[in-house]
Amino acid sequence: MIVLGIETSCDETGVALYDTQRGLLAHSLHSQIALHAQYGGVVPELASRDHLSYGIKLVRSVCAQAGLTLKQIQGIAYTMGPGLAGALLVGAGLAKSLAFGLNIPALGIHHLEGHLLSPLLSSNPPSFPHIALLVSGGHTQLMDVLEIGQYHLLGETIDDAAGEAFDKVAKLLGLPYPGGAKLAALATQGKPNVYKLPRPLLHSGDLNFSFSGLKTAVLTQVHKQAQQNDTAWKADLARAFEDAVVDILTKKALRALQQTQRDSLVVAGGVGANSHLREQLNTLAEQHSFKVHYPELEFCTDNGAMIALAGALRLAQGQQDAELGFNVRPRWSLSEVSALP
Ligand code: KG4
Ligand code: ZN
Repeated sequence: MIVLGIETSCDETGVALYDTQRGLLAHSLHSQIALHAQYGGVVPELASRDHLSYGIKLVRSVCAQAGLTLKQIQGIAYTMGPGLAGALLVGAGLAKSLAFGLNIPALGIHHLEGHLLSPLLSSNPPSFPHIALLVSGGHTQLMDVLEIGQYHLLGETIDDAAGEAFDKVAKLLGLPYPGGAKLAALATQGKPNVYKLPRPLLHSGDLNFSFSGLKTAVLTQVHKQAQQNDTAWKADLARAFEDAVVDILTKKALRALQQTQRDSLVVAGGVGANSHLREQLNTLAEQHSFKVHYPELEFCTDNGAMIALAGALRLAQGQQDAELGFNVRPRWSLSEVSALP
């Protein structure tokens, strides 16, 4: 079954074609970074308008890449939530209109299910069950993934998400939006152990996370350093921050594996692109004999391929939206997602 996937939950328009027989056929991404950079963050209204400009272009582009016509598409998957309401509505509108015109089924997909399943697109796909560490701009969760569609939440952040913390700390250090990856790049130039930062909830005994106190600790250091002329301290502070986040994420992930006695870990979401996090997890995996799986780097952050994949797995089983009319779910818990039919 050939499925078109459309992702418009935030600041990236992603479109892809996935074939249940042949795998990923084509994908295309338009980033809105340049659009939002001048405002220092995502402006929802502008995001929606930009998705409107690019959605159809990207559909054309993936069809051309795959050498397919629209009529060869057999189902359409779109991100139904969570995300920005207006941005989601643009993708849902495009998906539902195309499905209506082509007389094929459509299905709304949970954005985080897309992230969770994205390692299935890699050359080293995970098997089920496994533990998933989902670390994006909006979520930080540990999940016991029994099967596609069966996600049991083990723990999550009680305040900021890990990616959000990366972005906020980047801003504190004067880096431009979107700061997460830039902060990680700066951290590679920093010396370790120059700053001692807290690791909130590390010893809480549960699998929850907290990052807002860490961000405040960085702010305190920024105020102390503001008088200095040189900027080397910024790299050292970025390093200390990244070390603290990586320490927390890896230790909690290990605890989740031990508590559930699972032997494989999947890392998904934008922070999963962080090379220091990957190094630490790889080391830990060797020491504790578990397997660790990541999406390809280009599928760590938001993309259409993960939505096309998640949609194809469900549509191929006969699942589809009941109504031609549509709505989106800007807030939607992954535990509410249905199991495969
Ligand atoms: O999954 P994603 O694209 O969007 C959401 O669904 O939220 O994740 C975006 C997040 C941002 O917060 C960004 O700062 C973070 O992923 N991120 C990184 C890196 N690349 C992206 N964080 C740390 N290191 C990176 N290399
Ligand atoms: Zn995402």
